Amino acid sequence: MTMRILGIETSCDECAAAIVDDGSHIVSSIVATQIAHHAQWDGVVPEIASRLHVEWIQDVVNRALLEAGCSMEAVDGIAVTARPGLAGSLLVGISFAKSLAWATGKPLVGVNHILAHLYAPLLDQDIPYPFIGLIVSGGHTLICRADGFDDIHILGTTIDDAVGEAFDKVAKHYSLGYPGGIAIDRLARNGDSRACRFPMPKLDKGEHRYDMSYSGLKTAAIRQLDAFWDTAYPRSDENLAAAFEKAAVDILVSRLTRAVDDTGIRTVVAGGGVAANSYLRNQLTGHSDMKVIFPPLALCGDNGAMVAGIGFRMLQRGDRDDMTLNAAPRVASFKRGR
Ligand code: KG4
Ligand code: ZN
Repeated sequence: MTMRILGIETSCDECAAAIVDDGSHIVSSIVATQIAHHAQWDGVVPEIASRLHVEWIQDVVNRALLEAGCSMEAVDGIAVTARPGLAGSLLVGISFAKSLAWATGKPLVGVNHILAHLYAPLLDQDIPYPFIGLIVSGGHTLICRADGFDDIHILGTTIDDAVGEAFDKVAKHYSLGYPGGIAIDRLARNGDSRACRFPMPKLDKGEHRYDMSYSGLKTAAIRQLDAFWDTAYPRSDENLAAAFEKAAVDILVSRLTRAVDDTGIRTVVAGGGVAANSYLRNQLTGHSDMKVIFPPLALCGDNGAMVAGIGFRMLQRGDRDDMTLNAAPRVASFKRGR
């Protein structure tokens, strides 16, 4: 019998809900983005984000049900992102999901947003474990070995900024557009990455074999551009975007190649907003040493379908949360080696 799950996602600036059957078939997915409301600040303003979630959440959930052509009665369980993320934003989704669960008597489960990103590509295909996971978003940058949907061994993480954060900060500094990652991706298509040769982080010691670093690249791009610019090339936004994007992606690819070679696991599953980056996708698609599976573009960024998908696995296993479910802005166990 089909198990139909409602997934709710409000961890950052997307107010999202989806209906997914059996953790694989997306029946409906609604993502209401707050981008226009944060654009004038060139970044997500937490209080604005929470307030918009409070206003929008009921309509977003209603639309997910309407598009699926079902009522809450036909839903078998409710999954909601509970960690990590902006506390005020998480609390809106959690409170709404708890109220729904209380009113309808449906089982409730709180989901880890990072694991949900890694589940996104599994929504429309079976991918056997183990695989190497690459999670790249505005808040996280990590390489892991996945032996199950929540059986994750972290191999490497960023030791400072997340890769998406570096895209966003460089774009903000040079007023390239908002959100920064998408703006840089678009500009880079008409730029020449040879215009600027940024240094690669030196993280080759044993304990940092798979770790990444983005604060050096960010500082070089923002404060030391003259030192790295090749004057043979014009100083254009397009050239800067192409050179920055190449450096940011090269850092990821070098660590990923190492993890694949060391573990011998050649299937890689990518997830998170930066997995939408076209240069990253080009570099890794058709790679000779690994088979990289990307989520469709619509499932790279935050969405309710990935939450419903992993929520199905958890509920099916018997996981349940009660009315004490709370938000955890950070997840301590997402450190290397655990
Ligand atoms: O997964 P996500 O929607 O939210 C978090 O969980 O953080 O990721 C958002 C991040 C932002 O930093 C955004 O600039 C970046 O993903 N991003 C991109 C692209 N699209 C979104 N970065 C590079 N290229 C893109 N095409
Ligand atoms: Zn995310």
